[in-house]
Amino acid sequence: MKRILSALGLTLLLAMTFTITALAGGWAVITLDELPGEVAANQPLEIGFMVRQHGVTPLEGQSPVITAKLAGSNKSVSVLAVEEGDVGHYAATLTLPLAGEWQWNIEAFGAPQPMPALTVVDVALAVNKSEPITSNSNFLSLLAAGIGLIGVVGGLLALQRKVRWAAALVVAGLLVSGAGFVSAADQPKAELEAKEPVVASIPSQVELGHDLFIAKGCMVCHSHTETNRIREFGVDMGPDLTNITASPEYLRLWLKDPSAAKSTAQMLALGLSDAEIEALIAFINDN
Ligand code: HEC
Repeated sequence: MKRILSALGLTLLLAMTFTITALAGGWAVITLDELPGEVAANQPLEIGFMVRQHGVTPLEGQSPVITAKLAGSNKSVSVLAVEEGDVGHYAATLTLPLAGEWQWNIEAFGAPQPMPALTVVDVALAVNKSEPITSNSNFLSLLAAGIGLIGVVGGLLALQRKVRWAAALVVAGLLVSGAGFVSAADQPKAELEAKEPVVASIPSQVELGHDLFIAKGCMVCHSHTETNRIREFGVDMGPDLTNITASPEYLRLWLKDPSAAKSTAQMLALGLSDAEIEALIAFINDN
């Protein structure tokens, strides 16, 4: 009975803490410095980000945790981020041990904010790409090329001695040798294609914009059908952006600095680069 009571007490206490955090406005927008490009297994990845309470005030003194999980397994990795640089800016080094698709999030203040999935590639396979590949079939092709060459030389010698079949031998030798070289040259390419690791394909502007919409924290304040399914927490402070289209000129101005576009703007400039802005415009206008 005592145990049940203390469990009840604990539940109540936890519930109260959550309520208090919510009442105190326990939410923040996390904005990743940049999208991680291609990530290789076991290679340290530097991650930097800003934490802004209510998407506005840089929040210091937090101990954000980055958690990554490998899809289709129970493998997960967690690291603690530390304050670095500007107020509200944090950094961490994340090392993902295996190739595959990793889902990850950052928990700083309030609910964890999901980040766009990372495709991690295998370094061993990536390195193999530049190494010459030899194989038995390659050897056979070269052997055929060699025999063909001997045929050519033999034919030429015979030609000198005016043997009748000499010209035919030269032609046959050239053909065999040529075919051998061509197939030998093809070999490494064929092998490469077979061994090609799962490489992240080059994303389109719209796909980049989609990932930035998540990584920069836009989806916390803006509903969008393309990102709502991975969003765990949203405040819908700004308008739903699913069906919005606007001129690139206007969006460029807005995303660079909302207050310059509209004096009453509540949305903050998030320090986006020009390239990031172009990708976001492609994503916003893609409907
Ligand atoms: C802290 C919340 C917040 C975040 C984060 C945020 N926005 Fe906004 N956004 C708003 C609000 C609020 C508005 C409505 C206009 C205003 O008062 O600022 C808005 C308006 C907009 C508009 C419409 C502008 C117009 O004139 O109608 C676009 C487009 C937009 N945001 C894109 C983005 C993108 C892209 C990101 C991420 C890089 C982003 N927002 C991040 C709050 C936010």
